[in-house]
Amino acid sequence: MTAYNFDALEKEAREVIHNVSNQEDLETLRIKYLGKKGSVTALLKEIASVAAEERPVFGQKVNALRNSIEIFLTEKKRSFQSVSKKDPAFDSTLEGLKPNLGRLHPITKTIREICDIFVKLGFEVVDGREVETEFYNFTALNIPAEHPSRDAFDTFYTETGALLRSQTSTVQVREMQNRKPPLRIVAPGRVYRPDEVDASHSFMFHQIEGLMVDGRIAFSDLKGVLHIFLRRLFGQDLDMRFRPHYFPFTEPSVEVDVKWGNKWLEVLGAGEVNPKVFERAGYNPAKVQGFAFGVGVERIAMLRYGIRDIRLFFENDLRFLEQFQ
Ligand code: DAH
Repeated sequence: MTAYNFDALEKEAREVIHNVSNQEDLETLRIKYLGKKGSVTALLKEIASVAAEERPVFGQKVNALRNSIEIFLTEKKRSFQSVSKKDPAFDSTLEGLKPNLGRLHPITKTIREICDIFVKLGFEVVDGREVETEFYNFTALNIPAEHPSRDAFDTFYTETGALLRSQTSTVQVREMQNRKPPLRIVAPGRVYRPDEVDASHSFMFHQIEGLMVDGRIAFSDLKGVLHIFLRRLFGQDLDMRFRPHYFPFTEPSVEVDVKWGNKWLEVLGAGEVNPKVFERAGYNPAKVQGFAFGVGVERIAMLRYGIRDIRLFFENDLRFLEQFQ
């Protein structure tokens, strides 16, 4: 019999071909087995020298081996093609699916834009607490015990006697207790009031508090800063007016209106910090002066975007939210 183990040869060829990882290597193997000088071709040539009685069997085995190797090579080639060939269900000319990008809530956007203006004026953005004590929400701000806003019906109290802050002014004394003058801060955040919800009222909304304290900070400084702020926000030709008002924590106090169409609209409250507030904070009112202001964020966003109903901000309807790029 012949010296060749055809089964082992076939097994080896199947493995080597199976393990090939690209078309070029596959072609090299085809040449190695079936090329003019390939090993299977050499076996075919050997048929002539095999003993006559063994020749038919030998010839059959060599041919079978060649057929098998041809099949291995073809199958392998097809496997490469099916990877590179396009899936007929895949149409590369169709528009892709856009990932749905999130975006900032209009209130977040407005807060950031307002804070950016103040940061450029040298103010620092600080954080306050939403759950506060009566001291920071009222007492420290010179709001007397008999003031109606302290009433259980006018403020959200927790069972332990803490409360959800009704104004960001709470941040004023908290910050002053923790640092020495001079300071320039803005503090954005949520505030809570038990208001009945309608198109212009919500039990929760946002304010940005501002406070500037130094040796001598006059009312003209307040006017200058607020002019710059409101004009950067609403445009350089904005008309505004300062209307006398009363707040317990400022003296004198004003409300600031902007001209919108042919109407004056109130956008913020402000004033020179009341010396009693400095006392509560541990500052010497004879040595420091300052101004403070509080802006309603929803009011500003409603004006800027022409939104008529405050409830839209909190309903999380994507048709509304997706309009704010
Ligand atoms: N806290 C006031 C409010 O909620 C707004 C305000 C008015 C803040 C005058 C101030 C200020 O800092 O000086 O209506």
